[in-house]
Amino acid sequence: MMEKPKLLIPGISGLLGLNLAFSALPQWEVVGTTHSHPLAGSEFTTINWQYDKAGDAKQLVEQVKPALVINCAAVASLDAAEQAPEFARRLNTDFPGELALACHNLGIRFVQLSTDAVFDGQKGDYTEEDRPNPINTYARTKLAGEEAVLTCNPDGLIARVNFYGWSLSGQRSLCEFFYNNLRDGNHIRGTVDLFYNPMMASDLADTLLEMVSQKLSGIYHVSTAEQISKYEFGYRLADQFGFDSSVIEKASWKDLALDAKRAPNLTLNVSRLIKALGHNLPTVDDGLTRLHKQLRNGYRDTIRKLAIVVK
Ligand SMILES: NC(=O)c1ccc[n+]([C@@H]2O[C@H](COP(=O)([O-])OP(=O)(O)OC[C@H]3O[C@@H](n4cnc5c(N)ncnc54)[C@H](OP(=O)(O)O)[C@@H]3O)[C@@H](O)[C@H]2O)c1
Repeated sequence: MMEKPKLLIPGISGLLGLNLAFSALPQWEVVGTTHSHPLAGSEFTTINWQYDKAGDAKQLVEQVKPALVINCAAVASLDAAEQAPEFARRLNTDFPGELALACHNLGIRFVQLSTDAVFDGQKGDYTEEDRPNPINTYARTKLAGEEAVLTCNPDGLIARVNFYGWSLSGQRSLCEFFYNNLRDGNHIRGTVDLFYNPMMASDLADTLLEMVSQKLSGIYHVSTAEQISKYEFGYRLADQFGFDSSVIEKASWKDLALDAKRAPNLTLNVSRLIKALGHNLPTVDDGLTRLHKQLRNGYRDTIRKLAIVVK
């Protein structure tokens, strides 16, 4: 039997990392790093590892010797980045830069996950040619991460994304916020003045792997083609799962107690990617249908069972 090529996923315990690992398993031997959330036994190998200092990224790549690296490690919460800006800079900027350089020097393909939040949200429908203007610490460190990657690895692929899916904790993603509360009949608020185009994590994982197989490089917006408010997302999720949507109250993000400033319209234009792949991308409803199927076929439980309860 032919050996599978090796894929390294720094941040495999995160929301995207885990879903990516499951999407990649049929084609790739998957190795990933965890930090504060070690994983129980699974079909992939995990290394408990943390990025501390310059040199760590190179050492990791030399140890694993992958054919491909997709970097999912990050301080991915806007509010956490605001509270620990120096740590966010190291993980969101320095680490991807070092990883990209190590990959470039060793001839390894490299993919960096970036964010729609590099824009200020004043316009929406952003193309790759639009000028970023980050408005919070998270977004500034992610944009600097893009620049660090492209400076030392011109063949690197940068995917600006926004996504949702089932996570290790069951509480990481906006879809889990809506699902958990709608299931319990809790009254919740959904913002009508924050717009985005969220992609389901497994759809995103499949798309990233297709982009790698097509040898795409440079910056791409990778999301659904449909642009909706967060309230609308909750409403559609309720519809898909058969929950009562009347418990979702329409709200403004300005009424929520948030540390980091929010950008109102972060919708991404995905025409460049559709043209490059030669087909349309999954819609929001396609994603929600797949999410529901994953609940029914036990995929969500498989993910949750990987969590090790630290006593
Ligand atoms: N979630 C979204 O909707 C969204 C939107 C736009 C862009 N993105 C980008 O997509 C990527 C993946 O996001 P995500 O939501 O999957 O992130 P996540 O769930 O927060 O996972 C982050 C990962 O980074 C690891 N990590 C944290 N601190 C570390 C350290 N010091 N050293 C090594 N690893 C460390 C975490 O490990 P432990 O959990 O084991 O500590 C975890 O595996 C990120 O680049 C993020 O900026 C996400």
